[in-house]
Amino acid sequence: MVASSGSARDGWSSRTAFILAAIGSAVGLGNLWRFPAEAGQNGGGAFVLFYIFCVIFIGLPVLLSETLLGRHGQASAPESVRRMAAESNALSAFMIVSFYCVVGGWVLYYVYVFAGDLVTTGLAGGAFEGRDRAEIEGILPGLFGSARLMITGHLVFFAITMFFVMRGVSQGIEWVATWLMPAFFVLLVGITLYGLTSGAGMETLTYLFSFDFTKLTPQVMLAAVGQAFFSLSLGVAGMITYGSYAGRDINLGRTSGIIASADTAVALIAGLCIFPIVFAAIAAGATDLSVEGCPGLRFAALPGGLQAMPCGAFIGLVFFIMVGFAALTSSVALLEVPTSWVMERFETSRMVSTLGVGLSAALLGIFAALSFNEWSDVRPLAFVPIFAEANVFDALDGVTAKIFMPLGAILTCVFVGWVAEPRLVDTENGLNGWLHQLWRALVRYVCPLVLIVITFFGLFG
Ligand code: TRP
Repeated sequence: MVASSGSARDGWSSRTAFILAAIGSAVGLGNLWRFPAEAGQNGGGAFVLFYIFCVIFIGLPVLLSETLLGRHGQASAPESVRRMAAESNALSAFMIVSFYCVVGGWVLYYVYVFAGDLVTTGLAGGAFEGRDRAEIEGILPGLFGSARLMITGHLVFFAITMFFVMRGVSQGIEWVATWLMPAFFVLLVGITLYGLTSGAGMETLTYLFSFDFTKLTPQVMLAAVGQAFFSLSLGVAGMITYGSYAGRDINLGRTSGIIASADTAVALIAGLCIFPIVFAAIAAGATDLSVEGCPGLRFAALPGGLQAMPCGAFIGLVFFIMVGFAALTSSVALLEVPTSWVMERFETSRMVSTLGVGLSAALLGIFAALSFNEWSDVRPLAFVPIFAEANVFDALDGVTAKIFMPLGAILTCVFVGWVAEPRLVDTENGLNGWLHQLWRALVRYVCPLVLIVITFFGLFG
């Protein structure tokens, strides 16, 4: 057990550990589940291109600002930004982790289903051999419809997350990231290459990369900004917290570039992986799968896609285990934000803080899990037009991605660009010459303005 008190600060054991942990935090269900689903719901190519634009011109400068702010403060995030944003950041991470672990629970359920299938089918067979389409496609609705399964999956995933947060930074989080992230990447690329060559490769490329200007509405733009922040773990003090464990020898400018590139690559590859399978399933006459409106896109489509694949049962099992690991490196990072805040604010031990924060977030998550069944017609934000149709799950997701994250990012930019002493900021960012000038201009003017405009028109336009 490390860092049992708020004052004894634990840190990354090496530079590589920090980079891997930060990538581990960024790469998760945001890339694998949320990105394909958002791209599908927001018109494909237009969304994807604007997303990439957001990552480069907004996400990256904010990412550097957050890590810098974290290391500079050498305190957990909300402590170092207390004067401006304080509690709101830890609160958003708290809200995200609650529904994030619900999706983590879906992954666990699929691991369970594929494991059972592997036992019946054997190593060489395709997934779900001999079972018909309807049955395979019934897996997801079957899971969503059962409050018991949803809550169990959620709580198990939450317990695993709490276990690693309790162990502290270098023993817990870092271990997960160093061992599991590289393995995940290899598998993802493998399955994608298979899908592209054997499925609807061309159709996918056209869908994801052809740009239709008319589809770029303010709502689509806000969704893209929200997705960029969600995916890069920004706007909720995630990277501030991780930056606060980073040593002086780390070049934050270069590191931010690596994190953003890796995260974007995984999101795009995930798109290339999921859509061929979805299109193939649609072409085969699978009825109720549509590209536009399925929150569980990946989960619904993948089992069918793996049916024809040699060793499909085995690959499916390994794949979902990997997705689970990627999700875990993010959920651990998420829970770390409010946990370290409580540790410092109330001077509690890591153990007490993890338990208190974790159990409350897990409870909130139960309501999110019920959104798909018992509470499917509860509309907590019915009075807010753009969230009028949202159930508890969608409300937690929508409010954090579309309001709190942009707001958190605006505050970070204002603080780093205008309030913090320029001397400190300038010597710490690891950038020289024109890159440095560009970054400063983006942080001071472009990011806050663009964010205010997009958020405003996305919400009210
Ligand atoms: N980026 C993570 C993902 O894509 C999710 C996430 C959002 C996150 N905000 C965060 C993780 C803050 C850690 C900290 O899955």
